[in-house]
Amino acid sequence: MISKEDAEILKQLSAEGGLKLISAKFPEGAVFSTSLGQEDQVITDMIFRNQLPVKVFTLDTGRLFYEHYELLSQNNSRYKTKIEVYAPESSDVEKYVNEKGINAFYHSVENRKECCFIRKVKPLNRALNGATVWITGLRADQSENRENMPVIEWDESRNLYKYNPLIHWSYQNVLDYLEQHQVQELSLHRKGFISVGCQPCTRAISDGENPRAGRWWWESSQKECGLHTH
Ligand code: ADX
Ligand code: SF4
Repeated sequence: MISKEDAEILKQLSAEGGLKLISAKFPEGAVFSTSLGQEDQVITDMIFRNQLPVKVFTLDTGRLFYEHYELLSQNNSRYKTKIEVYAPESSDVEKYVNEKGINAFYHSVENRKECCFIRKVKPLNRALNGATVWITGLRADQSENRENMPVIEWDESRNLYKYNPLIHWSYQNVLDYLEQHQVQELSLHRKGFISVGCQPCTRAISDGENPRAGRWWWESSQKECGLHTH
């Protein structure tokens, strides 16, 4: 249980200090989901460098970039670990692609959300089963939807705490940390990709474009996949 006082302390602590506190408080139930993006590489480094008791997992949608698998493997070597991989149910994927089409997500927002549900949300729910606190790499300035997210909150729908240690970090803070600690990152970031999701649903952005403009770029929808409803 996180009291109001704990929540206040977490707000004051650094991200690394907060991760230490949370994992000490919930040594059995703290889990971190990594997309292998830059923010998540910061948290991954903090967790493994300090050998914190946190289960680290990633959702392999089956449609990621080659670079994701390369970085996953590099992380496992560097930190001498095995980041857990969660995959979608094969029966869900087979039904979807055989009935709707292999790239049906381009045809409607409904199809796209269904694909995200099958490939991301359902596996996430499995990964979070039994967890007490879910750690994410969300940052407030990534999107309007994330602007008012707190450092720590009770996630009613999933029945757990959600802890966002980097919520008030700027993008420059993230870059500085990666540089300072010599943390590896997706080589895609040097090719104009900032926010990176599945390969068919992410494009590089141009100078001055919103960092999330490359995600589901053909849609004018809210650009969220259902992992983070608020
Ligand atoms: S998304 O909702 O648009 O896909 P985004 O890429 O910004 O999310 O990542 C925000 C946070 O969601 C990450 O810091 C991470 O905690 C989680 N996340 C997103 N994609 C994945 C993934 N494939 N595997 C694990 N966690 C993920
Ligand atoms: Fe499917 Fe695209 Fe969502 Fe990935 S981002 S799960 S490919 S719709």
